[in-house]
Amino acid sequence: MNATAPGGARHGEQRMQQAVRIAPSILSADFARLGEEVQAITRAGADYIHVDVMDGHFVPNLTIGPGVVAALRGHSTLPFDVHLMIAPVDPYIPLFATAGADILTIHPEAGPHLHRSLELIRALGKKAGVALNPATPVETVLPVLDEIDLVLVMSVNPGFGGQSFIASALAKIKALRRAIDDSGRAIDLEVDGGITPETAAAALAAGADVLVAGTATFRGGGAHYAGNIRRLRGGS
Ligand code: DX5
Ligand code: ZN
Repeated sequence: MNATAPGGARHGEQRMQQAVRIAPSILSADFARLGEEVQAITRAGADYIHVDVMDGHFVPNLTIGPGVVAALRGHSTLPFDVHLMIAPVDPYIPLFATAGADILTIHPEAGPHLHRSLELIRALGKKAGVALNPATPVETVLPVLDEIDLVLVMSVNPGFGGQSFIASALAKIKALRRAIDDSGRAIDLEVDGGITPETAAAALAAGADVLVAGTATFRGGGAHYAGNIRRLRGGS
């Protein structure tokens, strides 16, 4: 990257690559070798490790519990970005905090008192995120902007990897970019679901700065992870 001459399109590409953060979702990793997979995406240039926690109730799939998060914790020094798709969520927040999560993201529909749940996360010393489903309006998160470190815009319905990007997420990202900038607070704007190099570019143009990508990161096996991540950042 340092060898790149300043000016022109390459310079723009370079700036974009630096600003974007990539959070591979380990939902698309080889579950029989999860520790190695976390090490591999860490070496390949990931910025966060995105962990999708599903309970077979809030979403129609079952995945990872706090024991697995704790077992993976020693395999990477990157922040663990833990996306909780479970209801009720409150009883499990302390367990995932203890297991080694750095960011805990919850859905407003997963408990009766969103503000209280966010306070709990921050009282445990963790970063707090709110995830908005495709049918959940941007307005849901505006009253709690002062309590959060991340907004996650779901660009698929939560539950499974490998789904197609829902284009209405782009307008939500744009509205949230304005709201976050107006707040003056350092809040990550993350998009999750159906991210490919093409939809990544659209999400970044709309104002996202963290891209969750499962299928697009893990496609092709370990030899491809670094290239897959580079292309998500807008590189070639
Ligand atoms: C969906 C999860 C996503 C999912 C993304 O419920 O929150 O993180 O794993 O997978 P891809 O990138 O394959 O759409
Ligand atoms: Zn997720």
